[in-house]
Amino acid sequence: MRLLVYGAGVLGSLLAADLHEAGHDVALLARGERLAALRRHGVLLAEGHNSVVRRVPVPVVADPADGYDLIIVMVRAHQVDPVLQSVAGLDGDVLFLHAWAAGAEPLGAVIGHERVLLGFPARGGTMDGDVIRHRPHGFVTRRVPIQIGEPDGHDSARVGRIVRMFRTAGISARAEPRIDAWLRTHATVTVPLGQASAAAGGPAALARDPDAIRGMLHRVRRDLADLPTPPVPRGLAAVLTLPDGVLVPVVRRFLRSSTVTHSGLSSTSPATEAAELERLADQMRILRRAR
Ligand SMILES: NC(=O)c1ccc[n+]([C@@H]2O[C@H](COP(=O)([O-])OP(=O)(O)OC[C@H]3O[C@@H](n4cnc5c(N)ncnc54)[C@H](OP(=O)(O)O)[C@@H]3O)[C@@H](O)[C@H]2O)c1
Repeated sequence: MRLLVYGAGVLGSLLAADLHEAGHDVALLARGERLAALRRHGVLLAEGHNSVVRRVPVPVVADPADGYDLIIVMVRAHQVDPVLQSVAGLDGDVLFLHAWAAGAEPLGAVIGHERVLLGFPARGGTMDGDVIRHRPHGFVTRRVPIQIGEPDGHDSARVGRIVRMFRTAGISARAEPRIDAWLRTHATVTVPLGQASAAAGGPAALARDPDAIRGMLHRVRRDLADLPTPPVPRGLAAVLTLPDGVLVPVVRRFLRSSTVTHSGLSSTSPATEAAELERLADQMRILRRAR
């Protein structure tokens, strides 16, 4: 399978490096200074705060082109529109592997509905100059799968092929028949959590502010209750019933964990993070109004 990873930020670079190291025919699409840096030294990876930096010579391109069997889009939600324009005239399936709460319709309207697959990445990391500092691999993180699905939920051969391709590259992945609901459920948590964290001055500061965590949980409950379908995974519905006395300590522990240190909540580009959350919040608002 000829693969193009579109977007050479934290997760696009990590995925392209994993696929390249596993022997796949993969190219990484980058722009601006990132493109120049990748051409100079390839993808640079470091686990957590480790000073050892690994170099992976992934082929890099500046423009998409025909001939890829699968284009994997790994940009931010607010950066998707120009990407759609640039892949519209090409062939090949397109897997949108990023935060997104607007469903497949606006994507398919530009590139062709039959080409769209939805998904969500599993890893975490931050950018440290040109180096991707990724979440250390542990027993649990190694098993958290990339979620991939057909927008209408049907069980397709192409999703099966992509899941197998990831797994043979040592990347945990699974087919999710309710991927649209999964992505919307995810946004009901990440938007209030990310915005509360930014308003507090970062995850550690939010962990010290139980009132702000309660306010954030109130927003999560409102958005979960407003979803047009039951939450996916269903376990998240517990947030609707568990009291703050139980949830606030859990959230505080999470905010202080190493998972958060190497995640979007600790992004070194807060403006980009904020713009993505605002786009997701808009998508949720449109969804609410449509009900
Ligand atoms: N990082 C994490 O820990 C994490 C964890 C779970 C989920 N996610 C989600 O995964 C998605 C990707 O996250 P990320 O952390 O990889 O984001 P990121 O580091 O901001 O990477 C996005 C990359 O896409 C590039 N890009 C955007 N538009 C482009 C275009 N038109 N042409 C070429 N390149 C373009 C950006 O370039 P510029 O820098 O030039 O804009 C940037 O390099 C997001 O939805 C995020 O919420 C992230």
